Amino acid sequence: MARLPSPHPVDPTPRRWWGDHLAVPVGLGGNTFGRTTDAAASHRVLDAFAEAGGALVDTADTYSDGASEAIVGAWMRDRKNRDQVVVSTKGGNHPRFEGLSAITVAAAVDESLRRLGTDYIDLYFAHYQDDLTPIEESAAAFDALVQAGKIRAIGLSNFTAAAVREWIDTAGSGGFAAPVALQPHYSLIHRQPFEGEFAPLASEAGLAVLPYRALGGGFLSGKYRTDADTEDRARGAGVRPLLTPEGLRLLDTIDAIAHDHHARAATIALAWLMHQPAVTAPLASATSRAQLEELLAAPAVTLDEAEITRLNTAADDLA
Ligand SMILES: NC(=O)c1ccc[n+]([C@@H]2O[C@H](COP(=O)([O-])OP(=O)(O)OC[C@H]3O[C@@H](n4cnc5c(N)ncnc54)[C@H](OP(=O)(O)O)[C@@H]3O)[C@@H](O)[C@H]2O)c1
Repeated sequence: MARLPSPHPVDPTPRRWWGDHLAVPVGLGGNTFGRTTDAAASHRVLDAFAEAGGALVDTADTYSDGASEAIVGAWMRDRKNRDQVVVSTKGGNHPRFEGLSAITVAAAVDESLRRLGTDYIDLYFAHYQDDLTPIEESAAAFDALVQAGKIRAIGLSNFTAAAVREWIDTAGSGGFAAPVALQPHYSLIHRQPFEGEFAPLASEAGLAVLPYRALGGGFLSGKYRTDADTEDRARGAGVRPLLTPEGLRLLDTIDAIAHDHHARAATIALAWLMHQPAVTAPLASATSRAQLEELLAAPAVTLDEAEITRLNTAADDLA
């Protein structure tokens, strides 16, 4: 794939822009790199992702205190594939670069560029809303990064819908590059507030949507059924509260549908996300090639309306 064209200001419909340019509509999450997978294991997963045609790799300056970005950077340097990777990273939450003030954003992005070993980031997310900095200051700071060619597009994560709107409006009135993507927490076990507030906003504003924690931290793979399954597991404490009768019924529903498709539960959980009209590409991480294969199988799965309804109904019981 050639270097992606910038969505600014040429294409007012970034969601279509991303969709058209991502041959594999799954983003590989990088919060495992340097945490549960060392550099070599991370590179094996990245290799498998790239071999399958995957392009979008999501990381952040906070993941393993920058080690995740450095692992992605080393991989791109070794494989000489920078122009085939859509690099998504985030700033604003690092202990040394906290918040979205102009000075912090400018310093944080330079650190990310250095670790990634690149002179541009395809998609740069404000990781969290910063209530202490006026949105106009942040919008101008992100625009300056676009104008400098350090980032190609802007995304927002963990913002309220009102703050997303304010940033879009501020960009419009100030003549700044506008956000083109949202990164919300959204999966079968976490449907709100995305479905209520953000899906309509994304469609109205033409924003790409890259849902994070698409597998519920691994719960939706179905491998955690009892407390014992969670013991000594990196994500055990996070998934244990989901081991309720409702949570287990959701897993049973996923399993039944997976069985009918000769697929794995993780594949069906991602496929469900891909069937949501607002979703551009879910973000999921994998700690092995075998896990990744189950994620990459999702785009080929077509769920019918009855299956979507069964999944929605089982997920509704969690609420
Ligand atoms: N914007 C934000 O604030 C934010 C927050 C969180 C995440 N994110 C992004 O979203 C990405 C994905 O989120 P996440 O990693 O937290 O959660 P996730 O994708 O829901 O869960 C991924 C974990 O599930 C397990 N897994 C994956 N495939 C599997 C399979 N086929 N079978 C069994 N287990 C499987 C692996 O963990 P084990 O092997 O350890 O079990 C893997 O690390 C992150 O890497 C990051 O890029 C962004």
